[in-house]
Amino acid sequence: MKKVPIYEMLKNYSEKHPLPFHMPGHILGRGLNGQLKMAGELDITEIPGADCLHSPDGVIKEAQALAAECFGADYTLFMVNGSTSGIHAMIGAVVKPGGKLIVGRDCHVSVLNALAMFKAEPVFVLPEVDKIHGISLGVSYEAFENALRANPDVQGILVTSPNYYGISLNLRKIAELAEGYRVPLLVDEAHGAHFRFYEKFPEPAISSGADLCVQSLHKTLPALTQTALLHGKKKGLVDRKRVEKIASMVQTTSPSYVLMASMDIARDIMEALGKDLYHELWLNIKDFECKLQNTAITRVTPKEDIKYDFSRIVLSFKNTALTGLKAGEILFEKYGIVAEMADLYNVVLIATPYHKKEDFEGLLIALEEISKDYPKDKNSPETTLYWPNLLPEKVLSIHEALYYKVEEVPIKEAVGSVCGASIVPYPPGIPILNAGEKVTGEIAQYLVSILDMGYRVNNVNNGRIPILNGRY
Ligand SMILES: Cc1ncc(COP(=O)(O)O)c(C=O)c1O
Repeated sequence: MKKVPIYEMLKNYSEKHPLPFHMPGHILGRGLNGQLKMAGELDITEIPGADCLHSPDGVIKEAQALAAECFGADYTLFMVNGSTSGIHAMIGAVVKPGGKLIVGRDCHVSVLNALAMFKAEPVFVLPEVDKIHGISLGVSYEAFENALRANPDVQGILVTSPNYYGISLNLRKIAELAEGYRVPLLVDEAHGAHFRFYEKFPEPAISSGADLCVQSLHKTLPALTQTALLHGKKKGLVDRKRVEKIASMVQTTSPSYVLMASMDIARDIMEALGKDLYHELWLNIKDFECKLQNTAITRVTPKEDIKYDFSRIVLSFKNTALTGLKAGEILFEKYGIVAEMADLYNVVLIATPYHKKEDFEGLLIALEEISKDYPKDKNSPETTLYWPNLLPEKVLSIHEALYYKVEEVPIKEAVGSVCGASIVPYPPGIPILNAGEKVTGEIAQYLVSILDMGYRVNNVNNGRIPILNGRY
């Protein structure tokens, strides 16, 4: 390890075998059991020398500066509640109450929650979808341009890139567009923390011209769950002090040093080894992809002009008798292979440098067998995406909807009511309804049909959806 200030401070402290009369209550692991005992040895609070996340001027400041340098940012903040808190901080820092934010409709729920908390008004723009594979291709440049032209008073643009399926947007062009309107570009890059470390990945948001971006280190890098970074680039549109203030407001006053040390270490490992590790992964995936061609299962990659993350492997089962959901179950139950996600058509796998050649060989054997065992026949599932791509009527803002009680009713009975939560079919993983939007007959019919077809739909329970019912 080259330079890991937080981890070094923790190690030095624990090696002194101090007598702790401070938080946390397990006192350096004494009160913990089994494997957690070891984790506890590094789990401290703000003791002398440990700095403070909320006004850093010691090891945390140093580690954040090292991260900023490594990721090409002007400043970086450690987030211990994942990209979720980073997204809250970005939106809270940029949009004033009642102000508008252009938002890709394919945004994560943390974006919707931040809109509700900070009273921001979304101007939703619809992503394009690939009707064959059902995956979201993200929002086009033209859609952002139209939204900006129609709403020159917006206070920011928030885009998701890459998405869950690994599809990236042309951030350079979108950043130029935003700059032309003097509007800050915020990027939810939760799935792209690794892009910085190998040239075959799409260009990272911060070097493409984003003003702010968040990355979950825990999603793709060797870092513990909940770790994320908020990067900023000084372009005169966002006040750094305000970002720091809101980031501090949305984070615990007892941040985990184990999580912060994990970010420090992940950055150090990647800086030293990332390029070689990802090159090896790229070779392994190319080999896997080549051999996969002998099966009925295909890897989904977008058209040539769309950039994507080669380490996000989206497998389509449309040439077999299986849905993606069923294939995911078989991979798990028969082969012990656990996918990140499955939808009606696809299985999504996240590959990392810590997957070795043998892992891809094992995966390939499983897929070869599945391909032979489940050949496509006349009863095979329908594989063309059924997606209306519409923006429902807004009755209440997401913020106002927060102050209503929610009740679940059968979908058909919900027609005419106002929805109480985001209803998200997979694929394409884009909400068909958000809180505050009207449930129409068309949308209800769509939901009933796709549930019959076997789609997974978030926030639909046994054919019932949440609707608003009376103010609190
Ligand atoms: C696109 C996107 N943004 C943000 C998040 C939130 O990230 P975290 O889990 O690190 O809070 C997720 C999590 O799944 C996500 O998929």
